[in-house]
Amino acid sequence: MARKLLLEHINVPQINTLAVYREKGGYRAVEKAIKNMSPEDVVEEVKKSGLRGRGGAGFPTGMKWSFLAKPEGVPRYLVCNADESEPGTFKDRYLMTHIPHALIEGMIVSSYALGAKTSYIYVRGEMMPQIRILERAIEEAKAAGFLGKNILGSGYDLELYVQPGGGAYICGEETALLESLEGKRGNPRIKPPFPAIAGLYNCPTVVNNVESIAAVVPILNIGAEEYAKIGIERSTGTKLISASGNINKPGVYEIELGVPVEEFIYSDEYCGGIANGKRLKAVVAGGSSVPILPANLILKTAKGDNRLMTYESLADGGFATGTMLGSGGFVVFDEDQCIVRNTWNFTRFYHHESCGQCSPCREGTGWMEKVLHRLEHGHGNLSDMDLLVDVSKKIEGNTICPLGDAAAWPVASAIRHFRDEFEWHVTHGEESQTGNYGLAHYADPLEPVI
Ligand SMILES: Cc1cc2nc3c(=O)[nH]c(=O)nc-3n(C[C@H](O)[C@H](O)[C@H](O)COP(=O)(O)O)c2cc1C
Repeated sequence: MARKLLLEHINVPQINTLAVYREKGGYRAVEKAIKNMSPEDVVEEVKKSGLRGRGGAGFPTGMKWSFLAKPEGVPRYLVCNADESEPGTFKDRYLMTHIPHALIEGMIVSSYALGAKTSYIYVRGEMMPQIRILERAIEEAKAAGFLGKNILGSGYDLELYVQPGGGAYICGEETALLESLEGKRGNPRIKPPFPAIAGLYNCPTVVNNVESIAAVVPILNIGAEEYAKIGIERSTGTKLISASGNINKPGVYEIELGVPVEEFIYSDEYCGGIANGKRLKAVVAGGSSVPILPANLILKTAKGDNRLMTYESLADGGFATGTMLGSGGFVVFDEDQCIVRNTWNFTRFYHHESCGQCSPCREGTGWMEKVLHRLEHGHGNLSDMDLLVDVSKKIEGNTICPLGDAAAWPVASAIRHFRDEFEWHVTHGEESQTGNYGLAHYADPLEPVI
């Protein structure tokens, strides 16, 4: 069994309460940090652990913390990004629902490390139950002396607030989130300056994902060196993966980074194989924003090595033959899934969610959706694939925030790997039914890489 650091006690009854969470060792990291460590020690420990941001980009957390500006007399903020709206990603919601104190404890330790006296958890607005769960957990932590004035008699004060999100995917982009938190429309800001210099209310701010912040607790409990021993290369520790699609056991799994993709899909410890005895066709490994890979390339790299669940291995081959770990939203497609229909569906989402500030994204996502719609409904023509690639290239890299890239990559990769399926729609001139159109994109685990 893989080691569990975040979900070890997930099945303990009432682990959502402070009493049971503490019985299982909860709030030891707060005591350790506040009583025995300086804020700089905590930052150093997180740096040494090799923890990388779990929100999608994988930026080293300790390094981000060390960039935080510390001008005299200016407040600093820690903001937790719990907006989680990426299609296929539901790991943060799971953690907040079942073990809210894991996040609250992480927020206290991380705020202490950064010298923040006011911190926020910005939760996707639709997640009202989770907002209530977190608010209750904050009240419990406050009553026990872990929050508020003079925490554990140390002289350190911290107020922690939960802010319901603005109800748009773009509010998960860190600078749009800060705008929204300030009460404005969630439009991304031009960077630089980065939030570490000028963030919330123009003050130095760190924005981190729920899982990144929660991971600081086990890092302090087991020590950075022990944490860094888990995983491979620059992918240290454990990672929550939300697995969905055509698998036998959809759900949230905590993996040790480095588990082979094949094992993750087929073993009973995780996804339990493809549902209904079907064959694997494709995987979106890191939430809807990352390139889709056909079965042969998700199981093995183009060099023929086993693909592993790490930042490096999933990216092996660049976008020509690789993808990204992203947010850990692992969506599995079986042989009956239509790639054109799914790509159209993702693109509809990005078009709807584009904030509209940048023309390439605002207009480009609309055009891509239109072309994909006509392809899917049998009215496309053979030049449409080149047109889509052209539009996607004109969006990529030409927008203020990465939502444009997130919209472009799924389309470009679907055409790169499944062009014949797009052509099928044109030549057959009809809407997709289920069925794999006789195209052999599925692969068995031991099938050689093409
Ligand atoms: C459109 C868009 C939506 C995003 N949504 C989220 C989100 O819901 N949660 C999250 O942690 N990061 C999200 N991100 C990434 C954040 O901008 C940021 O990189 C992240 O919160 C940093 O935290 P980390 O370093 O701990 O990963 C999103 C980015 C974009 C462009």
